[in-house]
Amino acid sequence: GKGAAMVTAVAYRLATQHAERQRILDALRLSREQLMEVKIRMGNEMNRGLAKESHDQAAVKMLPTYVRSTPDGTERGDFLALDLGGTNFRVLLVRVRSGKKRSVEMHNKIYTIPQEAIQGTGEEVHQDDVIHCIAHFHYIFSPNFSVILSLGILLKWTKGFKATGCEGEDVVTLLKDAIHRREEFDLDVVAVVNDTVGTMMTCGYEDPLCEVGLIVGTGTNACYMEEMQNVELVDGDEGRMCVNMEWGAFGDHGELDDFCTDFDRAVDDRSTNPGKQRYEKMISGMYLGEIVRNVLLEFTAKGLLFRGKLSERLKTRGIFETKFLSQIESDRLALRQVRSILQHLGLTSSTCDDSILVKEVCSVVARRAAQLCGAGLAAVVDKIRQNRNLDKLKITVGVDGTLYKLHPHFSSIMHETVRDLSPLCEVTFLQSEDGSGKGAALITAVACRIRDAGQH
Ligand code: GLC
Repeated sequence: GKGAAMVTAVAYRLATQHAERQRILDALRLSREQLMEVKIRMGNEMNRGLAKESHDQAAVKMLPTYVRSTPDGTERGDFLALDLGGTNFRVLLVRVRSGKKRSVEMHNKIYTIPQEAIQGTGEEVHQDDVIHCIAHFHYIFSPNFSVILSLGILLKWTKGFKATGCEGEDVVTLLKDAIHRREEFDLDVVAVVNDTVGTMMTCGYEDPLCEVGLIVGTGTNACYMEEMQNVELVDGDEGRMCVNMEWGAFGDHGELDDFCTDFDRAVDDRSTNPGKQRYEKMISGMYLGEIVRNVLLEFTAKGLLFRGKLSERLKTRGIFETKFLSQIESDRLALRQVRSILQHLGLTSSTCDDSILVKEVCSVVARRAAQLCGAGLAAVVDKIRQNRNLDKLKITVGVDGTLYKLHPHFSSIMHETVRDLSPLCEVTFLQSEDGSGKGAALITAVACRIRDAGQH
């Protein structure tokens, strides 16, 4: 009768809605073939970035770091390290001991750089804030350094840093000048360290097989030990050098266009650096929440979510922080709690079905991020294996970053992808504790060790 017809109609409507949702989500699901293609393209870009003749046109810059060795445990000395990360600025006093007492001991102080300064000019950030922090730290600890300083700093101001007049400039020179002007204390700035390198060095101190550094946090990037003969931008063919890939820029010349969705394009268009860091924008914590929000917007506009009601909250950029993605996918979390998280975000009209869908969107977006990251890493370890003419490579990757460390599934999906796409590499993952600052000190320690060995 009429009742049965209505039930059929409702069932039909639900089925088409389900199909419609899945069709939208399918664009965010990558096949094994697609991931293999990402790996291949990353490999090609790596070669283009390394080679002199193609370097300028390459999206992945493959910057030489002049770090030629990972730690061997004989390093020693006191170092001051500066670590400029997302919004925190850390000054660390690092004591490296060798021999029986072999250890790394650290004292650090975290300073928060005011948002206005970060959005201002590079000059402002360096002179007024960074130098002030160093001076303050110097005052507290009055350290007496044997060899002074290495610096972990963001070279490219891509993570919410809009500081002008800074990108590409020699940060060391800027800092030295600024310190000199204050005439309060004197420091010898010897190195600028990318956080990936710091991570690789920190983990390398524990595990000699660690020759790759990976960050998956607010941003994403990787570094690894490349054969000197392939590092064409630097003279010499002997040994190896750590290369800071700046892989976040992969895709900036269209390498990822085949895999991008309208959601990615929307996130990129409305970012502070449109067209730049396209790979990073599909992977790292700063952007995943925005991708999710854009998917939810589309669902709602199509009447597939929140009863088709677009709330002001949902239209607000940046409401989904990285921690939200981790929280919502936590396995112990019941749907009731997902709903309360949504309510907390001002998305009040949600039903139980809405919660299931939001959770699914988060899961699809995070899975794709982990797989893309894994595909890139697969290219890196396979390149190292081929460099060394090995049938099988055993290698450790040092990792840092909140998304990798806190998300309940990101790391396992990424590991699985690397294993799947580079089966000839046996990859171990090691989380770095307090990577960048400690690593910065270790880099200087290694450089001093090599220098001193040369003098004897
Ligand atoms: C951004 C920066 C890169 C850094 C990464 C991870 O991609 O360009 O230098 O290593 O974020 O923090």
